[in-house]
Amino acid sequence: MERYDYIIVGSGIAGLYAALLAREHGSVLVLTKGSIDDCNTRWAQGGIAAPIGAEDSAQRHLDDTIAAGAGLVDPEAARVLAEEAADRIDDLVRFGVPFDTLHGEIALAREGAHSLPRILHAGGDSTGAHMELTLSSLAQQSNITVLEFTLATEILLQPRAAVGATFRSPTSPAHPERSPHHSERSEESVGATFRSPASPAHPEPVEGRVRGVRALDERSGRSTDYACRHLVLATGGAGQLYRVTTNPDVATGNGIALAYRAGAEIMDMEFFQFHPTALKLPGVQPFLISEAVRGEGGLLIDVNGARFMPEYDDRAELAPRDIVARAILDRMQKTGADHVLLDVTGLDQARVIARFPQIYRFCLDQGLDITRRPIPVSPAAHYTMGGIRTNVWGETNIPGLYACGECACTAVHGANRLASNSLLETVIFAKRVVQRTIEAPPDSVGAEPTADAIDLSEAAPAETPSPSRQAVQSLMWDQVGIVRDGDSLSRAKATLSAWHAALPKPTDRPAHELTDLVACGRLVTEAALIREESRGAHFRSDFPQPHEEWRRHIVFRKGA
Ligand code: SIN
Repeated sequence: MERYDYIIVGSGIAGLYAALLAREHGSVLVLTKGSIDDCNTRWAQGGIAAPIGAEDSAQRHLDDTIAAGAGLVDPEAARVLAEEAADRIDDLVRFGVPFDTLHGEIALAREGAHSLPRILHAGGDSTGAHMELTLSSLAQQSNITVLEFTLATEILLQPRAAVGATFRSPTSPAHPERSPHHSERSEESVGATFRSPASPAHPEPVEGRVRGVRALDERSGRSTDYACRHLVLATGGAGQLYRVTTNPDVATGNGIALAYRAGAEIMDMEFFQFHPTALKLPGVQPFLISEAVRGEGGLLIDVNGARFMPEYDDRAELAPRDIVARAILDRMQKTGADHVLLDVTGLDQARVIARFPQIYRFCLDQGLDITRRPIPVSPAAHYTMGGIRTNVWGETNIPGLYACGECACTAVHGANRLASNSLLETVIFAKRVVQRTIEAPPDSVGAEPTADAIDLSEAAPAETPSPSRQAVQSLMWDQVGIVRDGDSLSRAKATLSAWHAALPKPTDRPAHELTDLVACGRLVTEAALIREESRGAHFRSDFPQPHEEWRRHIVFRKGA
């Protein structure tokens, strides 16, 4: 079996950033199911938030992040995010990310629910693409091994009896962890140091330690096992769960489903962020119209020409995303239209073209000149705020398994992510993962398991034919969308669990992606059904208010 110190699954910004740091400390394999640049972060337009402006501070960024998260932000994760942001921006500048400047300084823009301009951008509205291309070209010139078109299908764990063997005894030499090149036999000869379950500081992990990953080469159809000391999941989110989405085809929640099957905890899945403004044109895939457009002064008007956001929130177009998305939906229902309009015709034409070249060009290709007339927009699924539960070091409850980026859930976003905190999160926690692998105590067992985690409900007997991806997306959009209720969620839950039971064992990438989407759909739906309140991005018309007793997270763990 090929062995590496680090295996990183996913080649978005989180995965590549982790890989570029990890190669200083050992051998690195990156597995990516498409080509190296085929990832979600490439499409991020708006930018990356960081409190680097003269008037700004980490405290203000922290306060804004906590306020947007509707009571569920983990304060420690948000503190780390805000306090380490400036250093990570310096790293990115050193790596060569060409952030836009104004008068020789990095230019800062405004986006919703940020109390002042703090969004860095590159190429106007192509920030994700510039970050991705910078990091991927560095990775390709380095000693990192990258396997493209290779899908991780199973996390390999030490059998439980051998778990203790992966940690050094307290009397072992100080060197942090054994070499991955040791044989299985030499691992077994190391004394078991597992703490008793009674020890609260180091509870017994729910499953064995990670020993590697199984991956499918899409081109040959062959599965191969790879061994590693540290497995880092950076696989992105599950935006393909929804019929209307800003996410590319690859965003199928593979890492989340993979981790759940291995016994990792999955948290906050009911909080799915819907972006307020995707271009809405018949026959055209939804195309993100960045929040930065509203940050520059773009206004939302309904099909009758009336500006409506001030009726819904004092912050108007710059209210948090969940509020703007629901307001648009409400206005669409009231006017009987399938869209509202985003109007930038009052802004300086040259400025709009220079600041949003990608959006301007895309719309022009569809016959719309955004500088001359308002464009039709509607909300679209955008970001998975839940995911693989980690601590602020990216550790999961499975020793040796880490997660960072959109597939992870530190609860830094709580119930509603602040715009442009997502790109920031990728680099903050990717860095911490690598730091942890070199600094962690040798007997570290990862994040403490959650006492009241729950398992997904039993799948119903499978009489149903397996679904298509489109069927899953339509069900999620119609029944588990921006506004949900107990009836629609119960119906979706029954259908998804029947589909789950009906799916044959996957043998190729499309089948794996479908299986993982259905698993993620179940996690979103069951969490949304359990949470009988409305909070942040989770809005239930049958429980429209937040309730203090629900100021807590819903965590799933297989076999809990
Ligand atoms: C946007 O530009 O509106 C998307 C960026 C983000 O999701 O933070």
